[in-house]
Amino acid sequence: MATLKEINQEIAKLKKQLSHLKLDVYALEATPNQKEAEKEQLQQTIKQLKSQLDEKLVEKTSLLGSDSSKLDDNVILRLENLTMKFGGLVAVDNLSFDVKKGEVFGLIGPNGAGKTTVFNCITQFYKATSGNVIYRNKDNDVVDLGKFKVHNVIKEGIVRTFQNVELIWELSILENLLIAGHTLYHANFFDHVLKTRRYRKEEKAVRARAMKVLSDVGLTPYMHAYPLGLPYGTLKLVELARTLMTEPKLIILDEPAAGLNDQETSKLTETIRKIQKDYDCTIFLVEHDMGLVMKLCDTICAISFGKQLAIGTPAEIKQNKAVQEAYLGGE
Ligand SMILES: Nc1ncnc2c1ncn2[C@@H]1O[C@H](COP(=O)(O)OP(=O)(O)OP(=O)(O)O)[C@@H](O)[C@H]1O
Ligand SMILES: [Mg+2]
Repeated sequence: MATLKEINQEIAKLKKQLSHLKLDVYALEATPNQKEAEKEQLQQTIKQLKSQLDEKLVEKTSLLGSDSSKLDDNVILRLENLTMKFGGLVAVDNLSFDVKKGEVFGLIGPNGAGKTTVFNCITQFYKATSGNVIYRNKDNDVVDLGKFKVHNVIKEGIVRTFQNVELIWELSILENLLIAGHTLYHANFFDHVLKTRRYRKEEKAVRARAMKVLSDVGLTPYMHAYPLGLPYGTLKLVELARTLMTEPKLIILDEPAAGLNDQETSKLTETIRKIQKDYDCTIFLVEHDMGLVMKLCDTICAISFGKQLAIGTPAEIKQNKAVQEAYLGGE
């Protein structure tokens, strides 16, 4: 029987092979009408490797014991009694809920309710005072995010945007996406310096990925523009596009519609739906725009002073008395 070390080596090898193949697919996607057979062949190989990887992960779990009992099959993220204190202030107070795989989940609440703090605890920007954040990662492995460093969370397939737009202002829109795609590279420092064949091949693939993402969110006309001076709605879209560079599983959006006009908000609503479907990911968002929240979300959790008020479908949340009083001013 294989040892844990051998299994881990096998897993690492398979993951590396898979990420190489995915880059090849990106490169081929740049020429959509050609090389269909080659692409088909690659997808087939990817599928086989994925199933080998699944087997290895099962083997690993049977050796180590399973964490997956902690999470139902259809759940991607679970907050368990999450609490975050800043000195005497309890920003998040014993909060528990599940986010299901593939849904759009909305977190709502008045200003200062603790929404951004919840996001910061999930992405490990803050270490929660107590409680757990359990997550089903890219490989369907169940992990305790509390054990991760903030810069490693992205490797698990979690990406986020910020309440205030955070882009690199000196770079064009396309370059901002290319930078976000840096985790896709296998080429090392010397490959970069010497611009080896491997580096050039990977650069082409990452560029192709960026072009596809820009086209999917309708930003192709802006690819060579610089962020400064662009409409706020466009900048918010660029942030969203940037999250798609790394094949995310869970996209966390902090107030994506803040500062947008009605037309931009309605375009954004459509774009988020499209992303959730086409990129096969789960969306977890905070938003004050109730129109967007009610239209877009499958499940909504309302909080006030860090505590859960209610959780349910948009219709249930609209009807909820506690939510109406705390959040909608008793309307
Ligand atoms: N780093 C920090 N240090 C101290 N207090 C903090 C910190 N971050 C957040 N808080 C406090 O925690 C509470 C929750 O803040 P948070 O930013 O999470 O609210 P929010 O629901 O995102 O509000 P908004 O809708 O205005 O964005 C607030 O009282 C805030 O002042
Ligand atoms: Mg906030």
